[in-house]
Amino acid sequence: MKIKNTIIDSQRIEQRVKELAAQISEDYKDIREPLIIVGILKGSFIFMADLCRYLTMPHVGDLMSVSSYGNASKRSGNVRIIMDARENQEGRDVLIVEDILDSGHTLDYLIKNFKSRYTKSVKTVVLARKPNELAFPVEIDYVGFDIPSVWVVGYGLDYAERYRTLPYIAELDPEER
Ligand code: IMP
Ligand code: MG
Repeated sequence: MKIKNTIIDSQRIEQRVKELAAQISEDYKDIREPLIIVGILKGSFIFMADLCRYLTMPHVGDLMSVSSYGNASKRSGNVRIIMDARENQEGRDVLIVEDILDSGHTLDYLIKNFKSRYTKSVKTVVLARKPNELAFPVEIDYVGFDIPSVWVVGYGLDYAERYRTLPYIAELDPEER
């Protein structure tokens, strides 16, 4: 393995996901139509699956795939939709589920994109945030963990499609990856 060290073990993840779900369930407890939860593929698929199962209010799951960096560097902010969400979001409350907030370009793009669909509201939940990497302010409603500016893998996160299904979040060894 080329894993350097565990940053967040599976028990802490489970505990935090339960806390986030409790908070989200409380905030949306009076919702009239089910909350549309849009997981951003591929990185959020494990986080979303766990989070949804602890929610206590009505919700429907949806999925969307975007390419964040393409061939350019991450500072370019070049976001493309690879596969769009399927639910009609007009007049609905929408929650975006993302794996990581890094430069902020991906979520900034998605928030604006979803607001242009005449949604009733758009909120965001991210598993992890790298506070030192943000290129500009992005409003995030729920944050699992603040983490250092290192490349992390596991619990849905990959490096070149590897390590996604590790049950914990770990730092990759930059020397060996
Ligand atoms: P942003 O647009 O720079 O905020 O990029 C966010 C996206 O980059 C995330 O959705 C991830 O797919 C990817 N990403 C950023 N940092 C990491 C990391 O440490 N591990 C795995 N993926 C990451
Ligand atoms: Mg992603």
